[in-house]
Amino acid sequence: MSIHSKKYGVIGNPISHSRSPLIHQAFALQTDIPLIYSAILAPLDGFTDTVNRFRTEGGLGLNVTVPFKHEAFAYCTDHSERALQAGAVNTLIFSEDPQAPARGDNTDGVGLMRDLAYNGIELTGKRILLLGAGGAARGVLGPLIAANPANILVANRNGETAGQLIRDFGADSRPQGVVSLSACALADFPLDGIAFDLIINATSASLSGECPALPDTVLHINTIAYDMAYGTAPTVFMDWASAKGARALDGLGMLVEQAAESFYLWHGVYPQTEQVRARLREELHSS
Ligand code: ATR
Repeated sequence: MSIHSKKYGVIGNPISHSRSPLIHQAFALQTDIPLIYSAILAPLDGFTDTVNRFRTEGGLGLNVTVPFKHEAFAYCTDHSERALQAGAVNTLIFSEDPQAPARGDNTDGVGLMRDLAYNGIELTGKRILLLGAGGAARGVLGPLIAANPANILVANRNGETAGQLIRDFGADSRPQGVVSLSACALADFPLDGIAFDLIINATSASLSGECPALPDTVLHINTIAYDMAYGTAPTVFMDWASAKGARALDGLGMLVEQAAESFYLWHGVYPQTEQVRARLREELHSS
């Protein structure tokens, strides 16, 4: 990389575990675009200062991860439709003038949808259970609704937050015949045998080795259990679902696909994701 390489990065806290530098460097090699992409640790109370410093040093774009996606949204004056819908930003786009307004986008939803398609998972007419109502769930709910499933139940530890999330997506005003949205607290989960075709874990429970408590009746023989988290071993949620015979998937593919979309926003070139998926999977297995 020359000193003229453009500067990008991922900002979060913690950040040392992030695979984003590896992914973006692989995309850069593949597309022949010289760039530097680093992992940037921001103090919990220092997001804006860290971003501003990065910009004065010539930075042109940042991916944003836990816990700064809402602060990144507030940092921008210009938002994509996807970011507005999610109320969260995972991709910041800067111009060369460090004082100029920043644009914010959210590529998490498209990342999930591309990974589901990659895995041959059809959503039309399906029953979906979305676990969690934080930034991650908010980022994917719009694209899930747009895929026209039969219904989506959002279940969260805090039931109020789940209710607010579906109201923000128009649950109270949806016309008949359009995807039905409902919400509940995990503790009040209906135990009357409703089974789902797809269960997406968008909580951060896996990061602390926990699993949202669900009755086994949510699973049927062809249920797909998708965890947005990933790691060197299957998450507790994935183990729970596999033990009951469901197909379990982690969020590694989503990570690569959301990165590809960010790469496209910054460089105008859409990278191939297949080889990068394989390489990351290999790395995770050997670490
Ligand atoms: P993210 O950006 O990753 O979504 P977040 O906005 O902090 O992070 O949201 C975390 C989500 O995980 C929330 O839905 C949280 O539930 P609450 O709203 O009730 O806090 C959920 N969560 C975190 N730990 C959990 C656990 N151990 N079991 C179940 N849900 C959990």
